[in-house]
Amino acid sequence: MINNNKEYCFHQFCFLLLIFQFLRPILALPTDTITPTQPLTKDQTLVSSDQLFELGFFTPGGANSDKWYVGIWYKEIQDRTAVWVANRANPLSSSAKSVLKITETGTLILTDGQTGNSVWSSEQKTPATNVVAQLLESGNFVVRPENDETKQSYLWQSFDYPTDTLLPGMRLGWDSKTGLNRNITSWKTPTDPAPGDYTFKINTSGLPEIFLTNKQEIMYRSGAWNGIRFSGVPEMKPTEIITFEFQFNSDEISYMFELHNKTLYSRLLVNHNGLLERYTWIPTNSIWNRFWYAPKDQCDSYTECGVSGICDTNISPICKCMVGYKPKNQIAWDLRDGSDGCVRFHKLDCETDEFNVLRNMKLPDTTWSFVDKNMNSDECESMCRKNCSCMAYTNSNISGSGSGCVIWSSELIDMRQYAAAEGGQVLYVRVSSSDAVQSGGVGSGNSSGKTKKVAMAAGITVGIALLLVVFTLCFLSKRRKYQGSIRTKSENRGTSERSQEFLMNAAIIPSKREFSGETSTEEFELPLFDFSTLAMATENFSDAAKLGQGGFGCVYKAILVEGQEVAVKRLSKNSGQGVEEFKNELRLIARLQHRNLVRLLGCCVDMEEKMLIYEYLENKSLDSILFNKQKSSLLDWQRRFNIICGIARGLLYLHQDSRFRIIHRDLKASNILLDKDLTPKISDFGMARIFGGDETEGNTKRVVGTYGYMSPEYAMDGLFSVKSDVFSFGVLVLEIVTGKKNRGFYNQNNHLNLLGHAWRLWKDGTSLELLDPSVGEPFSLSEVMRCIQVGLLCVQEQAEDRPNMATAVLMLGSESASLPQPKNPGFCLGRRTLDSDSYSTNYEETCTVNQVTVTAIDGR
Ligand SMILES: *[C@@H]1O[C@H](CO)[C@@H](O)[C@H](O)[C@H]1NC(C)=O
Ligand SMILES: *[C@@H]1O[C@H](CO)[C@@H](O)[C@H](O)[C@H]1NC(C)=O
Ligand SMILES: *[C@@H]1O[C@H](CO)[C@@H](O)[C@H](O)[C@H]1NC(C)=O
Ligand SMILES: *[C@@H]1O[C@H](CO)[C@@H](O)[C@H](O)[C@H]1NC(C)=O
Ligand SMILES: *[C@@H]1O[C@H](CO)[C@@H](O)[C@H](O)[C@H]1NC(C)=O
Repeated sequence: MINNNKEYCFHQFCFLLLIFQFLRPILALPTDTITPTQPLTKDQTLVSSDQLFELGFFTPGGANSDKWYVGIWYKEIQDRTAVWVANRANPLSSSAKSVLKITETGTLILTDGQTGNSVWSSEQKTPATNVVAQLLESGNFVVRPENDETKQSYLWQSFDYPTDTLLPGMRLGWDSKTGLNRNITSWKTPTDPAPGDYTFKINTSGLPEIFLTNKQEIMYRSGAWNGIRFSGVPEMKPTEIITFEFQFNSDEISYMFELHNKTLYSRLLVNHNGLLERYTWIPTNSIWNRFWYAPKDQCDSYTECGVSGICDTNISPICKCMVGYKPKNQIAWDLRDGSDGCVRFHKLDCETDEFNVLRNMKLPDTTWSFVDKNMNSDECESMCRKNCSCMAYTNSNISGSGSGCVIWSSELIDMRQYAAAEGGQVLYVRVSSSDAVQSGGVGSGNSSGKTKKVAMAAGITVGIALLLVVFTLCFLSKRRKYQGSIRTKSENRGTSERSQEFLMNAAIIPSKREFSGETSTEEFELPLFDFSTLAMATENFSDAAKLGQGGFGCVYKAILVEGQEVAVKRLSKNSGQGVEEFKNELRLIARLQHRNLVRLLGCCVDMEEKMLIYEYLENKSLDSILFNKQKSSLLDWQRRFNIICGIARGLLYLHQDSRFRIIHRDLKASNILLDKDLTPKISDFGMARIFGGDETEGNTKRVVGTYGYMSPEYAMDGLFSVKSDVFSFGVLVLEIVTGKKNRGFYNQNNHLNLLGHAWRLWKDGTSLELLDPSVGEPFSLSEVMRCIQVGLLCVQEQAEDRPNMATAVLMLGSESASLPQPKNPGFCLGRRTLDSDSYSTNYEETCTVNQVTVTAIDGR
């Protein structure tokens, strides 16, 4: 029955094929070949004979783009996935007359129909005659002799000139016949195939391995091929479906993968963000599934732990020095910057040196290593022992019992250690005999050396025990104070395993470091998020996910894998800080925890991207409710008063209660977020430290802040202090009471802004008129009057007249306290052009700061 069926199908297939062959010339059905007499025009495509790949003209920028390219993509996949582009740097104009042709001598030429110029051509070594160009089933576009039955002698092939994608069967690396070292280089942007900054390329020196670089700078390396996989890619496991191959001989040094199931597709690419990714097409779901990517974690970063440092994501801090080494720069090391690496305690003396065994290692950079594939393990060890400049050795091939020899005579750079179950391989490292560790029978220390080691081990154990006791005591005594952080920790515990990979637990770790003159005994490990996780969680930072845009960058709503909602602030690129400086700053900021501050959950630093991850607050920002006619009635007096008091307490904490003083410098309604119970939370605190240097008090050339909330001394002279925040707070209080924005508020009779208006009504004794009518009943008259008075006290012109936040909190909270009479406020009006000076008659003083005119006014 089954056989009959098959036969029937077979016949039918033959019949169709016959008709197809017969009709082809008439219908001009797609073919896979172009010849000198049959070029490819803009409305035609070539299709490989198995219908998998298609070659033609396309516009990656979308239908309206006038930049055309010739490329190859998967025919069946709707969402066009280009795997190769011919003229990646030279787009064609939109002219219909563009053609791809092959000359009689075998050169492919792509001509722009509008200009008549050739925008791309294939490199030709030897001229030939009777040639055709064919798109093969592998996706390789080749130039070959017309009657070449073996189909092996290609005059040119697209596989020799990859763009950003490696296909099955395509080789990355060096080939002695062509002299090419084939690399893959990212697109500039998702719509511009021009070569971007990121390249994945084999370095053929020493023991070859593949490097991901950003321009010249190394970001990540695969680790050397160890006969089974790359030593830095433990998750690389051949299966029945996919296998990997690495050639290292005098003819070629190359990497390739193969797929053994025709219905699946797989491709490896460098994306425009510098991420190396393998995607696999799942036909049943019709999606590209990301199968693997790198760099994955901090330890994949080339410079993370420096020379002689070992990176290990399972420990905290993640950098450690090899035994017998100490951090080169202890301060930077304590601040979690390991990039300076480690230095030796004891000099080597060659004769008595021993070898420590490091297991599960990603081998150090092998560019400068010596390799001999024919040596055995014993020969390798004795060669290293004999040569005093040998720093480390291991087998170059770990399959079977191990063979081959790699020797490092230079510094050991970019090592990482995996958990035992994950992979990596053994590395033998030369150390002075006093630093040798007994393990696995390597090294043969004399008895005195052993005694020393036992003593040392005992010392270390006692030390650790002592440290633990001290740590526990410290921890218990500080427990109440750090409840917030402990909560973070247990919450994170509860999340899925996958998220733990990205969301390292917040921890309290002893540190000797002093901050701003205060000794801190705890330091937060700031959870790091992975760029791709955030990109995925925000649908690639889509506009739909955007919550808002501020001076420091855009804010997006993100939903993490386990469903947790967070807000992601993608900082604008000109934050002016280096990565480490930035991380240190964040560690300080992350330690600030208060009911009225938005909680910082983590950060993400990925190449040029810097992002902050905050808790997500349901009710968005205060200004979106307060200044919205439909919504403002939500805020009855009780709620407004709670918001004012909450902001005051948050600000007081920043100014005084926290362990180092933070001046917000940009307090305003849009920086106050409201949770589901309308509890106010100050956001963006600490941004001034990141964007404007870390001065706590003083003078700055860069005025960050928002006109309308800025105190006169800050706006005009760049002088800031806690009192400039108090001024902004005063403006905010008056805005909350009145429901009106300070900037843009314009009263026809008085030509005054909100502050001037409030001041005038106060002087006239009619300040209750200020109360926003949408507050409704009931309200406490004394609270309203107190808020107005405190608001006016906070915006007084002279900084020394303004209360500090502690006093302001007291004033707001006490029924009985008699408050001082406010003096005249300082005013900062909004943007005003010089030619529109219709207000000027009311002002005594006008000055210009940063092209913005700021006016001080005396309302009397
Ligand atoms: C990558 O290969 C292309 C040729 O396909 C070459 O033009 C480019 O310079 C190479 N890039 C690097 C970084 O070697
Ligand atoms: C390999 O790396 C070294 C050091 O970065 C560099 O000098 C050399 O040119 C590289 N070789 C290749 C083939 O890229
Ligand atoms: C190839 O993959 C398809 C879809 O996953 C599967 O149904 C089929 O059995 C596979 N074929 C082989 C030979 O493994
Ligand atoms: C020791 O190793 C260095 C670096 O590999 C090499 O230049 C030198 O010739 C070696 N010396 C001996 C005696 O083998
Ligand atoms: C590695 O060693 C295995 C077992 O000895 C051998 O079969 C294999 O060919 C070696 N691989 C390389 C690349 O030398």
